[in-house]
Amino acid sequence: MVWIWIGWVLVLTFGIVVFRGAPYVPSRRRYIKQAFTDLYPLNSKDVLVDVGSGDGIVLRIASEYGTKAIGLELNPVLVLISRLLSRRDKNVQVKLVDFWLTPLPDNTTVVYAFMVTRDIKKITKKMQAEANRLGRSLAFITYGNRLPGREYNNALVGYALYTFVPLQIS
Ligand SMILES: C[S@@+](CC[C@H](N)C(=O)[O-])C[C@H]1O[C@@H](n2cnc3c(N)ncnc32)[C@H](O)[C@@H]1O
Repeated sequence: MVWIWIGWVLVLTFGIVVFRGAPYVPSRRRYIKQAFTDLYPLNSKDVLVDVGSGDGIVLRIASEYGTKAIGLELNPVLVLISRLLSRRDKNVQVKLVDFWLTPLPDNTTVVYAFMVTRDIKKITKKMQAEANRLGRSLAFITYGNRLPGREYNNALVGYALYTFVPLQIS
């Protein structure tokens, strides 16, 4: 009986999330490292936000570079798992939130997103709005998708790096 309940909890938590963003598929460790070394060299002054942080693999690798890493994750099971896996890592923090409804932390320097194509226009708008709100540039790393009509600074395997510059709104 308890297994049936656990099964339902998993189906519901993993299932409902797909209405708000990408389903859980982790990025590959080797490629993340390549991205943080060759695409956007992370350092200890960076604050990285992973929008939809899954099991926290991206956060833990970012932390290896001395970077503060913040995960925004909607699935409570994944939040629990990522907090457990990162429990000894002082640089890693995971918040149980819907990233569409959550402003980026004010000290964010770089955002990592592994999303479905459906959400690419929406995240482009959000990134621009956040750069405008913060009044400074934000680096944006996408995995698996490119932003239509926008030039990237650099690209590597499935990754592309963009810069969002604040726009003057009159
Ligand atoms: C493709 S996985 C990427 C996981 C991780 N970023 C990685 O690269 O390994 C997408 C993640 O986004 C989460 N997610 C989807 N929609 C979300 C939302 N609106 N707010 C927060 N997290 C969301 C999912 O639960 C899933 O863990």
